[in-house]
Amino acid sequence: MPAASDRDPSTGIDPLSSETRTFPPSSDFVEHAVARPWLYEEAARDRLAFWRARAEVLSWATPFTEVLDWSEAPFAKWFADGELNAAYNAVDRHVEAGHGDQVALLAEYEDGSDASYTYAQVKDEISRLANVLTDLGVSTGDRVAIYMPMIPEAVFAMLACARIGAPHSVVFGGFSADALRSRIEDAEAKAVITADGQFRRGRALPLKPAVDEALATGAPSVQKVLVVRRTGGDVAWTEGRDVWWHEARESASTEHQPVPVPAEHPLFILYTSGTTGKPKGIVHSTGGYLTQAAYTHRVVFDLKPAADVYWCTADVGWITGHSYVVYGPMVNRTTQVIYEGTPDTPHQGRWWEIIEKYGVTQFYSSPTAIRTAMKWGEDIPGKYDLSSLRLLGSVGESINPEAWMWYRRVIGGDRCPIVDTWWQTETGAIMISPLPGITSTKPGSAQVPLPGISAEVLNDTGEPVGDGEGGYLALTEPWPSMLRGIWGDPQRYRDTYWSRFPGRYFAGDGARKDEDGDIWLLGRVDDVMNVSGHRLSTTEIESALVSHEWVAEAAVVGASDETTGQAVVAFVILRSGTEQAVEEAGGEEGAIEVLRQHVGREIGPIAKPKRILLVTELPKTRSGKIMRRLLRDVAENREVGDTQTLADSSVMDLIQQGMTGRR
Ligand code: PRX
Repeated sequence: MPAASDRDPSTGIDPLSSETRTFPPSSDFVEHAVARPWLYEEAARDRLAFWRARAEVLSWATPFTEVLDWSEAPFAKWFADGELNAAYNAVDRHVEAGHGDQVALLAEYEDGSDASYTYAQVKDEISRLANVLTDLGVSTGDRVAIYMPMIPEAVFAMLACARIGAPHSVVFGGFSADALRSRIEDAEAKAVITADGQFRRGRALPLKPAVDEALATGAPSVQKVLVVRRTGGDVAWTEGRDVWWHEARESASTEHQPVPVPAEHPLFILYTSGTTGKPKGIVHSTGGYLTQAAYTHRVVFDLKPAADVYWCTADVGWITGHSYVVYGPMVNRTTQVIYEGTPDTPHQGRWWEIIEKYGVTQFYSSPTAIRTAMKWGEDIPGKYDLSSLRLLGSVGESINPEAWMWYRRVIGGDRCPIVDTWWQTETGAIMISPLPGITSTKPGSAQVPLPGISAEVLNDTGEPVGDGEGGYLALTEPWPSMLRGIWGDPQRYRDTYWSRFPGRYFAGDGARKDEDGDIWLLGRVDDVMNVSGHRLSTTEIESALVSHEWVAEAAVVGASDETTGQAVVAFVILRSGTEQAVEEAGGEEGAIEVLRQHVGREIGPIAKPKRILLVTELPKTRSGKIMRRLLRDVAENREVGDTQTLADSSVMDLIQQGMTGRR
């Protein structure tokens, strides 16, 4: 390892010297975290001093004095007496430091048209929008739901909320009206920002009708709906409630003073699936979240402001879009691509065409996307010039070694390091990942906790396992971007994350440490599925199925799937007396399609089961718990495992007999 005093050749800055420890007065100082081995040493020497230095590169309206207050564990406070504004850090300070002309967003639309926004233009847009929101009655602390396509306005909406200290709750545009309503109701959002529609696979799909439906059936807290015109055409309009973005924007001033908020002020709520039917509103703070999002983005992607063109393919509806499209990259003054559409519209080379068009240098995507591209064939990316790439990232699930090798060879030209980044909605930022240029990578392993992060693999009794052993992944020390809780439910926060291994955060993932001590993630150990890198709860889909009048009982499992990692497979018992309705729907096949559509309506298309099997019994223990393990065996076409604990061991025979010929 180089000596601790090594200077970063690109900046000449020694990260350990005192010059990096001062509060930059609105500067463009983002050299805080160049990826070098000394970061590990610095963090190991004094973890809190390490995080202090990472936080000090942000611009604080009021500097903090205390780094961590863990006295009310598991409720953490980081940098608590400091005040700052996230949008100021992401945008204004770059403009003030003379970088207003640098491109922030390169927006690529599905139809091939494009637009770009410099940091100065983004500042104007979010200032106007902050004024609009204020005029609409949104103030600091009010929650705002955002239900948008992946267009620059989604980024502006988030930053405008941050500018006035109104926590945003982004709901993925693929979620249904019901899912949207329950999220709006839980957060009691005062306003919704949406678009008339979005382009998907060459078609204009409506978006606002879902908002109208959600508000017609509940969500009384919402007073205003701000609507971006994206697809054009007619939309239903509620006078007094609905406001066109472009009309309000026209008269809004570009002058707006960002509101400094305490570091612990919630920057956003993001709903994610848990092990029960009700999604959890994960709450993230302003100061700690921003510190770690920016630091990790900088070191993991080796980001060089102004020189790089970075592209993360995530939608802002997910945490990856929050941390690695909006906050991390923009605090680091990144020039980045955002793409509205799907990877195969109008052709299967769309992503690679975009990399060539913009000269993308860092590309961050998911194993499911890589496996899909593999399936389409390497001659497709082979048609494009991908030589601008210098780093590849992966997130969402373990990347299998075959996909890793393909990614490295076909996309990365055997020259780009791959960072396999493990983290969660709850962790807010990357926790376990190799660092480019430092860690010798291993296909399929996320490997090592980042400097400043403490992770362990624990056995059943909470002891750390040795090298070569498996167990449960836990985070053993608090970290700045950790969730601050579940919105409105402190007990669920304690129970879900802190009760399995008291004093330590239980991530819900199984993991193994190899002979070198590197960490390999083995997937969820709870009732959460991972479909194309998206988290879905088995119970949430079961509840959706059971809410259909034909369904008596349902059990859902995640079965391995070559492309999507896991696929949703449901076992459904129909109520007696539904025979005629099923007949009218076109028999079993028709009924199954009706149920799939029902789940799509209740939750969203991503939750639709890939397969539904109609059965007459479900395997249960004597205490009535469904044995999903056995159903998974069936769904994966394996020999069924141990059935001894079943209340009635003949049930599995029944299920299998009933399924013959239906696969
Ligand atoms: O099971 C892990 C898996 O995704 C879960 C978190 O999902 P979500 O909160 O939706 O966030 C996804 C994007 C950060 C984790 O509990 N996961 C995420 N990244 C990886 C992963 N599993 C293995 N390797 C990864 N790199």
